[in-house]
Amino acid sequence: MASLNERKVAVVGCGFVGSASAFALMESGLFSEMVLIDVNKDKAEGEALDISHGLPFAKPMSIYAGDYKDAADAAVVVVTAGAGQKPGETRLDLVKKNIGIFKSIIPEIAKYNKEGILLIVANPVDILTYAAAKLSGFPENRVFGSGTVLDTARFKYLLGEHLDIDSRSVHAFIIGEHGDSEIAAWSSANVSGIPINDFCEMRGHFEHEKSMNKIAENVKNSAYGIIEKKGATYYGIAMSVRRICEAIIRDEKSILPISSIQHGDFGIDDIALSMPAIVGRNGVEGAVPIKLSDQEKEALKASATTLKEVLKEAF
Ligand SMILES: NC(=O)c1ccc[n+]([C@@H]2O[C@H](COP(=O)([O-])OP(=O)(O)OC[C@H]3O[C@@H](n4cnc5c(N)ncnc54)[C@H](O)[C@@H]3O)[C@@H](O)[C@H]2O)c1
Repeated sequence: MASLNERKVAVVGCGFVGSASAFALMESGLFSEMVLIDVNKDKAEGEALDISHGLPFAKPMSIYAGDYKDAADAAVVVVTAGAGQKPGETRLDLVKKNIGIFKSIIPEIAKYNKEGILLIVANPVDILTYAAAKLSGFPENRVFGSGTVLDTARFKYLLGEHLDIDSRSVHAFIIGEHGDSEIAAWSSANVSGIPINDFCEMRGHFEHEKSMNKIAENVKNSAYGIIEKKGATYYGIAMSVRRICEAIIRDEKSILPISSIQHGDFGIDDIALSMPAIVGRNGVEGAVPIKLSDQEKEALKASATTLKEVLKEAF
């Protein structure tokens, strides 16, 4: 069994999301080796060459196209392989197609790599995270999805624009499904410790309910809007992948809303969805059950029920 190389990442699936993530990871300087794997070997080779040509402007590393054997010692395996969302198609529509792909990919990864972390990005990410945990046999702390890390970034960005402040000073989470039933956890949102509604008033906004609904809807529909205009989304998710890998490799113990299998918080069990969690070198190192209003708790339970129904049908 290969021991892990802490400086190595594997990216499975080199389409829009995989290649943009590989580029972001190359720029991050976190890794010194990266293997790109795709059923379309030419695509993986082309991306490896193209991204390598940026290395003289970044930090030295080895980037190449390979096979699952080459992922045996990767500290993190990022899985983006799957069909993309078509215009008008919901993420849940994709489920059966992508579970089929996972049934071929995940056992191959697990055959060679026994100790790494599986970071699932392909959609529907919550369902596929659950499937990957079961198909790999890995402990649950080492299999998680990008979940609502991207949605949360969109939420912070839009709140930053709304309030005309740096989005990094906004502390707020999108939780639940990465998809149509996701929840903006408005009741716990704050700007540097100041409750969001108080901060809104400081900046001249008084219609909290209206702003909240508008921003939450905008976050939820972001992907549909971008896909409508350019066919796919990839830069935002690439930066999310980079951020999650950074938390893992640097053992940052950062709190990120990744998707992982739940065990009873808010009455939700045996389904993967996003709640803030501590992310470090051991993967998911603990849940952070933030305070929710009764309405948010109900919406979270409804999100879990939606996912459970899909899972029952598809897996
Ligand atoms: N989690 C998120 O926030 C988020 C954001 C954007 C996109 N996505 C998802 O990421 C996935 C990829 O999107 P994309 O736009 O890159 O799609 P894409 O079609 O551009 O790329 C998919 C890649 O997967 C490869 N692939 C397919 N089957 C494979 C297999 N069995 N083994 C290895 N490789 C295989 C394809 O050859 C292709 O290169 C989709 O499911 C999409 O919905 C997730």
